[in-house]
Amino acid sequence: MKPPLRVAMIGHAFMGAAHSQAWRTAPHFFDLPLDPEMAVVVGRDHQRAADAAARLGWAESVTDWREVVARDDIDLIDICTPGDTHEAIALAALAAGKHVLCEKPLANSVGAAERMAQAARQAFPAAVAMCGFSYRRSPALAFARELIAQGRLGEIRHVRGQYLQDWLSDAETPLTWRLDKSKAGSGALGDIGAHLIDTAQWLIGENITGVSSVLHTFVPERPIGEESGGLSSRAPGGARRGPVTVDDAALFTARFVGGAIGIFEATRFALGRRNANRIEINGSRGSLSYDFERMNELEFYESDAPAEQGFRRIQMTEPEHPYAAHWWPPGHGLGYEHLFTHQVVDLIEAIATEDQPRPSFDDALGVQRVLDAIERSAADRSIWTPIDDAESSGGPA
Ligand SMILES: NC(=O)c1ccc[n+]([C@@H]2O[C@H](COP(=O)([O-])OP(=O)(O)OC[C@H]3O[C@@H](n4cnc5c(N)ncnc54)[C@H](O)[C@@H]3O)[C@@H](O)[C@H]2O)c1
Repeated sequence: MKPPLRVAMIGHAFMGAAHSQAWRTAPHFFDLPLDPEMAVVVGRDHQRAADAAARLGWAESVTDWREVVARDDIDLIDICTPGDTHEAIALAALAAGKHVLCEKPLANSVGAAERMAQAARQAFPAAVAMCGFSYRRSPALAFARELIAQGRLGEIRHVRGQYLQDWLSDAETPLTWRLDKSKAGSGALGDIGAHLIDTAQWLIGENITGVSSVLHTFVPERPIGEESGGLSSRAPGGARRGPVTVDDAALFTARFVGGAIGIFEATRFALGRRNANRIEINGSRGSLSYDFERMNELEFYESDAPAEQGFRRIQMTEPEHPYAAHWWPPGHGLGYEHLFTHQVVDLIEAIATEDQPRPSFDDALGVQRVLDAIERSAADRSIWTPIDDAESSGGPA
């Protein structure tokens, strides 16, 4: 009998479903040191939370997250709610000695992220905290990181990141919490740009030291619809309209500690691009290119094979590739949900060995500082804006 890890998950919509799938699946495909138990799901509405428990596989449902934080029979709090709630839940959970998995971005401000990172440092190792930058768990990106760490790309020169979605292109798509600064912190920037920042820093092992940026809101007012159930909401809005208080698109250039330069774009208006999370890296010896919409592939170019010029398309399903041996035979492919399964696998292993799982809250604080600098730069004529504590904050390892 393995020791149990009794989980309470807060929020049960988009990420709630993805995390539930992960907790359900992980023990069936990975030999885990702890046995995750899907104990309680928390939602504000009694009936919707009960329905979610039945649908997603949770034993129980309650309507107040404070209740699960106070319970002795819960070991881990999984936070799948909008950014404005992360700090209160994470601080209470860590103070109660619970492990925490918190969705990204860590918080809606640097101050909140600092308080969370400090609480996580104090709680460790009795309780561990991790932030849900799930793309780190894509086998192709984990493999790309290994190649970079081995020096296969040589000195890193360019980092080119794009995260392109299009679900806001229609000006009649109603408002959701993602368009409300008080709930989301920022728009495309914090929602999808944060992934680019985390992926870039982690992949090349260097923090961003400064940025120059442009933020833009194409549709400043939208219909007020029913409260969104998530990204896919297409509910027709009513006659009433409300303001969009966040960016629709974020562009920024960046410098990295080691001398690489970066150019990044995050938008929800790239019509036809549904979830094109792309990154290309050029070094002195080679290049790598990845697009989440083809997540089972990694393109790799090595300049020391002149007679065989061209990018190689590596299919990321060989047993030697990160995570892949636990799934299907080569060539059978993984999908979005596998990122979240890998995320809980890595978290459970860290809990069992009392290691700090990555990305830590300190790593996520580092991302928050970059987000903050981007907002300050955009508000001040795109002026070059250094990142506070870039050398010391978090760490890309
Ligand atoms: N890792 C990723 O790739 C990824 C993808 C999407 C969203 N996210 C992050 O996940 C978080 C949630 O986003 P989402 O897309 O699941 O949103 P969502 O709108 O689909 O779901 C949010 C859920 O939180 C609940 N909720 C809100 N306030 C609450 C409260 N005070 N108490 C209890 N429940 C509350 C809502 O009822 C809903 O169930 C955000 O931080 C977002 O940035 C991460």
